[in-house]
Amino acid sequence: MRWAILVGVGLTALSFVGLAAAESRLNAPPILAQATSNPPLSQVQANRGESAYRLQCGECHGVRLNGGMGPALVGDPFVRKWQGRPASELFAFLKESMPLGLAGTLPDEVYADITVHLLRGNGAATVEAAADTTIEGLRQLTMP
Ligand code: HEC
Repeated sequence: MRWAILVGVGLTALSFVGLAAAESRLNAPPILAQATSNPPLSQVQANRGESAYRLQCGECHGVRLNGGMGPALVGDPFVRKWQGRPASELFAFLKESMPLGLAGTLPDEVYADITVHLLRGNGAATVEAAADTTIEGLRQLTMP
């Protein structure tokens, strides 16, 4: 009898935990599906950024931006930190701090390409025909 009650209480507690987890997932803000006012970015530039990223950053941040020794560069908390801010701030951060230990060693255009790759990785639309985003142009873009 005592055991039955204990088991019952345990199961009830477990189902509350399950419900709470499901609810927090429902309340989580959508990360990739958010609307962005950015014009479509250049797919060619993003691909170039991806190649540079794989060489210079992938070993620490994962080739799919999913993290490793360094933090993930897609999803929460990355998006939460950069969302709504001009992409020029991300560019400036990269140039000042990355690759870790070799900060500022890449040409500005490569940092710009990598920034576009990170925007795409977090849901920004790209099209083949779009012109490259210049460093100046990064001020007009926001992390989606
Ligand atoms: C040797 C490992 C290493 C390499 C290579 C490296 N990073 Fe990092 N990166 C880190 C670590 C560790 C952190 C977290 C600590 C910090 O911010 O200094 C970080 C932080 C970051 C952040 C901030 C993450 C956030 O949540 O805001 C970004 C963005 C980033 N790196 C991008 C890059 C890019 C792009 C490259 C390539 C140009 C690169 N990193 C190369 C290790 C690395």
